[in-house]
Amino acid sequence: MLTARIAVLASGGGTNLQALIDSQGGVLTSGSISLVIADRAGLQAEARAQAAGIASAVIPRREEGFEGRVLDALEKHRIDFLILAGFLGILSKDFIERFPGPIINIHPSLIPAFCGKGFYGLRVHQAALDYGVKVTGATVHYVNEVPDGGQILLQKAVEVRPGDTAERLQSRVLREAEWKLLPQAAEIVSAQLVREKENTL
Ligand code: GRF
Repeated sequence: MLTARIAVLASGGGTNLQALIDSQGGVLTSGSISLVIADRAGLQAEARAQAAGIASAVIPRREEGFEGRVLDALEKHRIDFLILAGFLGILSKDFIERFPGPIINIHPSLIPAFCGKGFYGLRVHQAALDYGVKVTGATVHYVNEVPDGGQILLQKAVEVRPGDTAERLQSRVLREAEWKLLPQAAEIVSAQLVREKENTL
């Protein structure tokens, strides 16, 4: 059976990566995680890949030629699509045009709220609290050259509770939305790619 080969690009703890790893064989059946790229050394995301027996690479984001090295790794591992999971960089238009497959990203708010340049990690949740929204959530979207600007694929709402801190809200959004949405989105995109592959055979 054909399955899509997925790469995950991470900059942090990799809890979204872990949700994807744990979903293989369950929610995620049309794709498998074939490569994890950590954008700096010593990330827990890399340790999670190694613990799961998944190929991993460290490609420092701040070094010259980062995007070219990522593209080479994706080609070497015959990757069909790329998932940004807690990745803090912004990929260039050139990168997006040179990578032939889809790229999806998970953002911890209901886009178009609290997104775009400067909105990442805890800052997103602090902005939601400062504004006083009663509902926030997470969004999985396709990646284009506009930060958090691509077509929306899935969203899930999460309530804001009285007394929430940014940390508590982030934890609830991760648990109730991100870790559920990303495997679902990975399955949707993988199944679409498998259908396309089968139609060309
Ligand atoms: C979290 O703030 C998450 O909301 C966002 O990226 C950050 C790190 O996620 N998507 P992870 O634990 O590294 O997956």
